[in-house]
Amino acid sequence: MIDTTKTKTKNQNNQNIEMIETFKKDVKQGLESNPKTLSSKYFYNKIGDALFVEIMNLPEYYLTRSELDIFQNKTQDLIDAFQIKTDSHFDLIELGAGDGLKTKELLKALDQQNYTFDYLPIDISSNALQLLEKDLSKTLPNVSVKKQQGDYFEILASLKNSSKPKVILFLGSNIGNMNDEKAAKFIYNLGVNLKPRDKLLLGVDLIKSEAIVLPAYNDGKGVTEKFNLNLLQRINDELSANFNLETFKHQPEYNEAEGIAKSYIVSTEQQTVTINALETSYTFEAGEKIHTEISRKYNDALIKKIIANTDFTLETKILDSKAYFADYILTRH
Ligand code: AVI
Repeated sequence: MIDTTKTKTKNQNNQNIEMIETFKKDVKQGLESNPKTLSSKYFYNKIGDALFVEIMNLPEYYLTRSELDIFQNKTQDLIDAFQIKTDSHFDLIELGAGDGLKTKELLKALDQQNYTFDYLPIDISSNALQLLEKDLSKTLPNVSVKKQQGDYFEILASLKNSSKPKVILFLGSNIGNMNDEKAAKFIYNLGVNLKPRDKLLLGVDLIKSEAIVLPAYNDGKGVTEKFNLNLLQRINDELSANFNLETFKHQPEYNEAEGIAKSYIVSTEQQTVTINALETSYTFEAGEKIHTEISRKYNDALIKKIIANTDFTLETKILDSKAYFADYILTRH
């Protein structure tokens, strides 16, 4: 008889080893580049996840509140843009569902209007999915939730042959953490896994003045600073390094003409850091920057350019009351 518990643990162990090897490779490549870089995808460990929840509640971080405004006050516009009949069963698929705060507003309205649908939140974290499922079973017991743990594209590929229409949600300006080339590839690959008339709801932050954008990445309480520097702490913990977090600081920058907020970690003095897992030491000059994140802001022209070589057409744009944020609804042609 096959012991499935042992097989699962073994698979999990193999996955962890693979993840650490990729982390090592990425850190090495980033710190050996000129200028130095570290990928923002490594922000999100347990501490980083908790700090990001704090960020979303900060007065300066308008993004989450703006999109919530759309989901609370323009719910019917969103539903109408899906162009789905109440009697046709559809799949509402969310990429990176998190706590589902915004989506719950939509689920509530769809439920009240007797739409027939399954809600499929996809997330890499099984813990986040379990919490969301538990919450929804209490707050919206009539909604059918089919949680999907794993890689977005693997899961979408496994759903491709279903005959049900699909609406994909990719909210929170998460696309903005990719450069335009990667974003275009990502949207193209979503289209590959969809059928004509399926929808993609893309939530993006809009280009606006530095006076509004920069504080969102430089809050008064220093939560974003902790979030950024947690990357160094993670390298200390997982790759046995000796970054002294007191001698590095967070530095956000925003160029309105370009529409990109960038986060850096700056070395405040000349120093050498050893990463034991890489058997290497790295020297940092005083004032030297490590680039850690881009948060792109958009306008219609940029969105059109990014989807130009994908199978999507821009159909509807829904704004919050301050016109800070947009939910674009794209149709697969
Ligand atoms: C997840 N992502 C859309 C956030 C953003 O605004 O780029 C991550 C973040 N970085 C610093 N603050 C928030």
